[in-house]
Amino acid sequence: MHVRPIRADDVDRERCFIAALSEESRYQRLFYVLREPSLQLLSQLTTIDFDRTMALVVVDPSSSSGDFVAVARYARDTTGKSAEFAVTVANQWQGRGVGTQLTTTLFEFAARRGIEHIYGTVFATNERMLQVARNLGMTVTSVPGDASLMIVSLDLEAVRPTSPRCQPARRTQRGFMGQ
Ligand SMILES: CC(C)(COP(=O)(O)OP(=O)(O)OC[C@H]1O[C@@H](n2cnc3c(N)ncnc32)[C@H](O)[C@@H]1OP(=O)(O)O)[C@@H](O)C(=O)NCCC(=O)NCCS
Repeated sequence: MHVRPIRADDVDRERCFIAALSEESRYQRLFYVLREPSLQLLSQLTTIDFDRTMALVVVDPSSSSGDFVAVARYARDTTGKSAEFAVTVANQWQGRGVGTQLTTTLFEFAARRGIEHIYGTVFATNERMLQVARNLGMTVTSVPGDASLMIVSLDLEAVRPTSPRCQPARRTQRGFMGQ
């Protein structure tokens, strides 16, 4: 499988990736019902600066148009030391280790960029993501006052980078997590 940073010319691939997701997968990722992503949202999701915002995609090796198998992304919060992440795997590829591997690669990149702590919000019913998080050694905690949500988090000091280095910073973007 080929893993690469997302690019500005991935708008159509990102649109197709989102469109092909089951309603449940889309809702688990975004926490709202998204029927058709706007061009503005697609532009935000495909614009990264490799510093505050980062997104990696897994490309289907058998697809001539480079269809996405999975997308994982993070955005630094205002402290600069922590970042929120999210990961999505195309339904037909779920349960085959892609989410675990891509999340690991994203965390290694984040550690190299000086991010010390990474966290994500997950529905308490999202057993698959919670299992991925536990497999990665993440801490799983409940959200006070909201039994429907869990926070998964990890200190990145222990993450040892093994994948190739990526490129330097460009520009920042708001609304990058798509939420
Ligand atoms: C959550 C998600 C990213 C996981 O990616 P994936 O490629 O399917 O996950 P993997 O194959 O790497 O690992 C799945 C793990 O969950 C386990 N699992 C699968 N279904 C499960 C279930 N119903 N209950 C408990 N564990 C389950 C698998 O056994 C595996 O664990 P194991 O390696 O210990 O056996 C993917 O399912 C997805 O895109 N879901 C929709 C979007 C989403 O929920 N994103 C998370 C928001 S941050």
